Amino acid sequence: MRRVAVLISGRGTNLERIVAEVRDGCLSGVCAVVVVVSNRPEAGGLEVARRAGIPTRVVPSSGLDGEAYGRRLLEALGPWKLDAVVLAGFMRVLSAEVVERFRNRIVNIHPADTAEYQGMDGYGWAFERGLSETKVTVHLVDEGVDTGRVLAQETVSLQGATTLDDVRRRGLDVEHDLYSRALRRWFENEGRSWDASTGGRAPCAES
Ligand code: GRF
Repeated sequence: MRRVAVLISGRGTNLERIVAEVRDGCLSGVCAVVVVVSNRPEAGGLEVARRAGIPTRVVPSSGLDGEAYGRRLLEALGPWKLDAVVLAGFMRVLSAEVVERFRNRIVNIHPADTAEYQGMDGYGWAFERGLSETKVTVHLVDEGVDTGRVLAQETVSLQGATTLDDVRRRGLDVEHDLYSRALRRWFENEGRSWDASTGGRAPCAES
């Protein structure tokens, strides 16, 4: 079983679905969420984790530059012997040091097609343009902002969506379905090459 940290900043609906899929869904027996880390103490997702009995850590980011924050984050992640880091609404860009430590082991979900739109508020972007459809993207995290290799994508129909809330609701429904399925496939596919290179076991990040 892969040991996963989920990083959040907000309400944690993607986290909630992942936890449910680990409990008795498509991620059951595939991975375990061993810790949830938030950069904001008030993130609702921390309560989701507590209810599920998952250890939580708050690593506040306010006032810290990217590099300093990255070092704090690595300290917090170090003891957990992680195979992968899953970003679920984590609103800080990871420093190059964090990306390097977990190279090809960090996954994010982005509320747009990363080839068309990078950065914050992808649903606002789609709504303002009056798009009839948009996409959500699961991708690996590299040093850029939403530039890593795409693992999975799904279309969100916005036909008849009249408010931004409506766009967000439709998008999140698709995200929740897509993320766990994409994680499962990723663990199955890439996990084999991790295993091959390490004689049967995914290497853990150094602690
Ligand atoms: C999602 O729309 C995700 O795509 C984006 O941040 C939002 C997080 O929502 N990166 P939640 O905290 O999982 O409800």
